[in-house]
Amino acid sequence: MSITTGDFRAKITASTLLEKKTRHEIITCLTAYDYASARLVDEAGIDIILVGDSLGMVMLGYENTLPVTVNEMLHHTRAVRRGVKRAFLVADMPFASYHLSRRESLRNAARFVKEAGAEAVKIEGGEKRAQLVERMVDSEIPVVGHIGLTPQSVHAMGGYKVQGKTLQAIEQLMHDALALERAGACCIVLEGIPREVAAMITGELEIPTIGIGAGPDCDGQVLVLHDMLGLTFAPPAKFVRRYADAGAVISGAVAAFKDDVKSGAYPADAESYHLPKETLAALESVVERKRVRV
Ligand code: KIV
Repeated sequence: MSITTGDFRAKITASTLLEKKTRHEIITCLTAYDYASARLVDEAGIDIILVGDSLGMVMLGYENTLPVTVNEMLHHTRAVRRGVKRAFLVADMPFASYHLSRRESLRNAARFVKEAGAEAVKIEGGEKRAQLVERMVDSEIPVVGHIGLTPQSVHAMGGYKVQGKTLQAIEQLMHDALALERAGACCIVLEGIPREVAAMITGELEIPTIGIGAGPDCDGQVLVLHDMLGLTFAPPAKFVRRYADAGAVISGAVAAFKDDVKSGAYPADAESYHLPKETLAALESVVERKRVRV
């Protein structure tokens, strides 16, 4: 067991996130879905790594997040776990894994902690999930809430639309956020809501809010790694800032490899293994003797 210190490399936990909010220190969060990206994100000092069910779209090519299964999420969470030392590791519970019976929801949540090493699970929905959040927290499973534009409700919402635009919707979002906080959620993702609404919710809550498409006044910000790296195939949403064009870098590298192989430029002699001189001489004399006998 290690004792955490004020060191900036110290392990991030749910209580560190709360302390950051108290100190007005911005929280950073990115998604990761495999060992390599998890290592890079963790070593860059990002506070929260989310194994988002967005992996269904950006890694597995599904049309939306609804088909993602618990087993797919567990598989990716285990890989990410192996790459993360410092960040707080959160795993998304996929659609229908916490919507049916209470018992099944708790069992699924526990699998993320026990079998995949997640430090918290994230579930979508507000007030209506409060009792479940309370039961999870009672079972020592930290929970991250997620309200606003909740992608698992795409059909119920009639598409991916900015939420919280009427007074009634704003009031409901506030109820949702407060209900999740009372139920024991350790932080809440606010997705796709007007900046003003996110600022109001953030001001009312003691726990941190992490925004995505919710403006700059949240306690932290999250983006989908593939969106910010330019590794997706559709035009990005308004709130996405592209920090790299990794898609172009990968396409360029693949095209250069293809050209080099076709032209014989790859592999070069320096990229090949060689026999030791004596073995080569012996081999040549065996081949020569055989040739003479024929
Ligand atoms: O699945 C995901 O990546 C998410 C983020 C958008 C918050 O839920």
